Formats: sequence, structure tokens, C-alpha cells
Amino acid sequence: MATPHIGAEKGDIAKTVLMPGDPLRAKFIADTFLEDVVQYNSIRGMYGFTGDYKGKRVSVQGSGMGAPSMGIYSYELFNFFDVENIIRVGTAGAFSEELHIGDLVMGQGVSSNSNYASQYEIPGIIAPIASYELLERAVSLAREKEYSYKVGNILCSDIFYEDIDFSHKWKKMGILAVEMESAALYLNAARLGKKALTILTISDELHSGKKATAEERQTSFTNMMEIALETAL
Ligand code: HPA
Repeated sequence: MATPHIGAEKGDIAKTVLMPGDPLRAKFIADTFLEDVVQYNSIRGMYGFTGDYKGKRVSVQGSGMGAPSMGIYSYELFNFFDVENIIRVGTAGAFSEELHIGDLVMGQGVSSNSNYASQYEIPGIIAPIASYELLERAVSLAREKEYSYKVGNILCSDIFYEDIDFSHKWKKMGILAVEMESAALYLNAARLGKKALTILTISDELHSGKKATAEERQTSFTNMMEIALETAL
């Protein structure tokens, strides 16, 4: 049954879904890495595709930018389409000086300035964390392929253009990098008893001001996709 944002039937979507923020990236992933692809969604241009990767069914769905958008799509996938695993594949700005353009970051935990968790009325602070199973698989693949990666705490921020730069406060608590979607993803997974993981590629060094070139983006994106797709197997 279709939902307000995903025009598909239950069986149209695989148990594991890769989610880039950009729907055109979802199309690129489907075109480049999957066989026998079927497009199951185009509502709001937020494309979703299902196909085969090395004989296993995998879906790819754009999440849009920010926790509210990721919140909607991941909730609908988990709750209405019986999706079990979501792997976010995105870009991030590096706080840590040990992270450089093209490095991978696995979000073991997600800190946030987002209000998303307030809906649960938890009498304290919940720590949104990755599925250990997915994280362990992704880390061992990155190690095997000798990609440069770090695993740790990331920041999911609601604000891209910040009036006041608080990055030094997050950095001194060991936060590796900033993105904008993972809090909603990890919290939905926790609430619904599902598995989630975020894999990020550093596209901006916030500590040096350096930004990825188009070529660097492409190579590191391919490395990240390989890890995500192999993790999904
Ligand atoms: N901030 C938030 N999200 C991002 C950034 C950033 O600097 N770079 C890539 N995604």
C-alpha cells in the first residue's frame, strides 16, 4: 500500500535500503551498481529503485536533506514496507584534524542539536547508536580494502548556515564530523526495532577550509558505495 511519500507496494522494496540524501545519487547508484532495476518511487522527485547487487535484492532511496525528511522516509520504509536495514550513505564536514577529504566515517553514535527525540518523552538523554552488526561488517570491509576510515561519534545538525559557530564545542567532545540526517534515522530504527548505519565520506575539512574536487567526490563516493553494498549482502 502506498504511503503519502512513497508510491510503492510492500514487495517492491527490498529488506535492505541504501539512502543517499540526493535522489539523483540514488539514480546514479541504481544505474551504476544494480541489475534488473525497477523504479518504485518518484513522488516529490524522491526517487527509489530496487535491483540486484551480486544476486541480492537491494533498494536505494533518496532521503532528502535534514532530520525531518530522513525521519519521514525512514519511518515509512521501516513501518509500512517491512524494511529491516537502512544504510545511509552521505557526505560530512570534518571537525577532526585527523580526517581528510575522501576519508570514510562510520557513525557509531549520533549526537545532535535536533529536537527529534523529544517526541518519545524519554526522562533523560537517549544515545542513538548504529546497529553493531552492520557497523562491524562495514568496518571489517573498510579494513580489508585498506580504505582510510574512522569510527565514532558524529553530529547530526539541523543547521547548515549557523549564526554562531559551535563546532569547537562538539570537537572538544571528540565528535568526528557533521552531517544532517542520522539522528532521525537511528532514533526511528531504535523505536521500531530495526537496524541502521550511517557511512559518510568527508567532503569538507571544516578545520582547514578544504573542499573536495569533483573527482575526489566521485572516487570516495564509489568506495563508500562498495562498502555499503557489500555490508548489505
Ligand atoms: N555541515 C553539515 N552537513 C554537511 C557538511 C557540513 O559542513 N558537509 C557535508 N554535509
